[in-house]
Amino acid sequence: MKSIILIGYMGAGKSTIGKILAEKKQIPFFDTDIGIEEKQGRKISEIFKEEGEEYFRRLETDMLKELKEQKQKQVIATGGGLPMKVENQELLKKIGVIFYLVVKKETILERLREDKSRPLLMGEEKEKKIEEMLRIRDPIYQSLADFCIYTDGKNIETVVNEIEKSLERNTDFG
Ligand code: S3P
Repeated sequence: MKSIILIGYMGAGKSTIGKILAEKKQIPFFDTDIGIEEKQGRKISEIFKEEGEEYFRRLETDMLKELKEQKQKQVIATGGGLPMKVENQELLKKIGVIFYLVVKKETILERLREDKSRPLLMGEEKEKKIEEMLRIRDPIYQSLADFCIYTDGKNIETVVNEIEKSLERNTDFG
């Protein structure tokens, strides 16, 4: 029983879209960032500050291993950096069908201009950081995804509908 997994850069709308998609499909919604925060009893920004990024990345892999054991169909929104590790890529493929929510740098900048919750985008030169990360991450997201959904300029409902249509067209996923 395959889950529906949303991957993509910070600010792509994975959580917002995931929640609505799960409601429409009447299955549970799970957000790996929130799952980690709840288990740890602290915010991601605190985990980064107190333990470092590597520690957080290990928590993400642990979380995926747990999700793999759950064997229930759900919509899963992932942290933007989670698909970077090969081990995580293998786990994601086993857990579900993967949708990459593609978003342009300009849209990300607009959405995350005032954001304080993402440690990797704190400080100066936000635009450059996004650009550099996208350059590395986009090809990885692309190669991992079963479907790429272009989200710029589209409202939430349109994106959700596109995901549903892709699922319907592929009955082994639906
Ligand atoms: C990260 C993305 C964040 C969160 C952490 C690191 C990343 O999740 O996991 O701040 O490396 O891109 P969102 O993609 O939900 O913002």
